[in-house]
Parts: sequence; C-alpha cells; structure tokens
Amino acid sequence: MSSDTLSIIQPDDWHLHLRDGDALATTVAHSARVFARAIVMPNLKPPVMTVADACAYRDRIVEAIPAACNFQPLMTLYLTDKLSVDEVQRAHASEFVHAIKYYPAGATTNSENGVTNIESVYPALERMAELGVPLLIHGESTDPEIDIFDREKVFIDSVLAPLLGRFPALRVVFEHITTRDAAQFVEQQQASVAATITPHHLLYNRNDLFVGGIRPHFYCLPILKRNLHQQALIEAAISGNPKFFLGTDSAPHSKVSKENACGCAGIYSAPVALELYAEIFDQWDALDKLEGFASLFGADFYQLPRNTRRVHLTRRKSNVAAHFKLGNELVVPIRANETVAWSVHEESQ
Ligand code: DOR
Ligand code: ZN
Repeated sequence: MSSDTLSIIQPDDWHLHLRDGDALATTVAHSARVFARAIVMPNLKPPVMTVADACAYRDRIVEAIPAACNFQPLMTLYLTDKLSVDEVQRAHASEFVHAIKYYPAGATTNSENGVTNIESVYPALERMAELGVPLLIHGESTDPEIDIFDREKVFIDSVLAPLLGRFPALRVVFEHITTRDAAQFVEQQQASVAATITPHHLLYNRNDLFVGGIRPHFYCLPILKRNLHQQALIEAAISGNPKFFLGTDSAPHSKVSKENACGCAGIYSAPVALELYAEIFDQWDALDKLEGFASLFGADFYQLPRNTRRVHLTRRKSNVAAHFKLGNELVVPIRANETVAWSVHEESQ
C-alpha cells in the first residue's frame, strides 16, 4: 500500500508515563491529541501502590485532559514485595485499574520499590492469574554482572520462562521488547502472553546512541540494541500477529536531567508517536498492518471494546519542536528540531 493518506481506528497507547503535578498539562495533552486510551505507568515517587492511590492519580490526570479531547487513562498498580492479595482483589473489582506492573528492583527509573524476590509475590500473582488481571513486565535482569545488552535475554531465561511455567494462566505483557529473543519468546507462548513495542526501538539501534558523540536523548531502558534485534522487532510489529501491539513508553525527563553527567533513562515520544509508527510501517511497505498494531490488538488483549472514531494520517512532513514546557522545566522530544514524515489530522465531522 503506498497511498499518501491513511485512515485508521483511533489508536491506544498500551504503555505510557505521564508523570504527575505540573507535568500533566503537557504530557496528557500530547497523548490525548491522538490516543483514545493509555495504560498509565505507576512509577511515580512514591509509586502508585494501592487502588486508592490509582484513583487519586486518575483524578489528577482527568483534570489535565484538554476540553476538546476525550481520553481515558487506564490505571496500573506498582507491584512490590508487599502487594496483598486483597489489593489485587480490589484492583480487579475497580472499574479503572487494568493491570499490575512488575519492575525488578533497580532495573530502571523509580524502580527502587520494585520486586526484590519474586517468590514473595507468588500469592499476588496466583490471585492475578485466577482473576485474569494482566501482569506488565519490565523484563531486564538486575544482576550488575550481566552485560547491559544481554539483560533482557537473561531475564527471559532466569525469570520469565520459569514464572510462566509456574503460573501458566497468568496474562502477561512483556513490555517494550528490544530483542529478537524476546520477540521469538512471545511468539512461542500461548495467546495470554503479548508484548508492546516502542517507536524508538523500531526506528533506532545502538549505533544511534553514539552518532558523532554521546546522545543522551536516545538513552532509555531497556537500552537500544544492535541492528539485528531492531530488524526482528520490525518484523514482529508488521507481522499482523495480535500478540504485538503499540506501547510508546513515552517517558519525559527534564532537559537538564537528560543532558547530564548521569543522564536519566527515557525518551519522550508522545508528541509524534503515531507519526513515527506510520513512518516505520510505511518504510516497510506495511501501512495496511498499522491499524491492527495501533488500534485493535491491544484492546482485544485487555478485553476492552475497540474504539470507534477514526484518525487520519497524511504523508506530509511536519516539524518537531526543539522542546516543550514540562512544569517549570523543558523536555526535549524525540526528533527535536527535525521532521517526521507523516502528519495526523482530527476526524473531520
Ligand atoms: O527508559 C525508560 N524510562 N525506561 C523505563 O523503564 C522507565 C522510563 C521512565 O520512567 O523514565
Ligand atoms: Zn515504561
């Protein structure tokens, strides 16, 4: 398909960091511009650990939704060693908590409260499996001896495969996969195991971290991998396999905390995310596969209704700003000061 225009059912973002406080005015507006719903990550400081926390956070997000948009935040809880079976039950009973996120302690931004010992959460996982509450997994080994480029593969072998062996009914989203190993692993599992793929892991590889110098705005976790992994992710995304769906992992950090001697991990893609996915699907002559990946498969996995509105895209370059306001600071988006090859339009009524 090589048309210059494309109309798809409105997409959802199945992995998003909105942050909190003043940042919400920017982050929520950027995502609500295009996406109907988003799975909102709970790694605030302190994390979203209870249904009551999620309810209050959801109210703050809803306050920040621009009047012209209808956007629905889908909340998650942060799995800690102490998450009780009763809290899992409450999450399931709530209308608005849709999943529980597993960060291995120390794996990434604000993960210090994550799981230190997987066995301590077995009772919670067992109840999640019974109730069908999805477990969203940041899949990286936290063993500092393991090479950073191998952490996803080691996690699959040492944690994820045994976990699924123990809880075969557990519904799992392997988040932001970055390797061929992860794509193959997910493909081989039953339908209750799926994965999200970010725009940056489709568009870039580890060379991009070092083009002409060190590039802090390409630093994210899991870190960009070598080209052969990028290629495997592209193949998974454009395959039409419903196990693979859109999750941006858009994760804003202030300009100063990225351009820093110890820069934070995270790439801010929300302002241009759908445009970037269109660009990559177009590049691989797979625009006909974009709607399934962006708008259908995630909703089906989460057992939520598919959206009914549509969004329209045109193959026309648009400029990306150098930065946006983020509370009292600035955030630099992916493709800052450059262009994206596609533009999104509102539904014309
Ligand atoms: O790069 C990342 N940034 N990876 C994560 O897992 C977390 C995220 C963040 O919250 O900044
Ligand atoms: Zn994330």
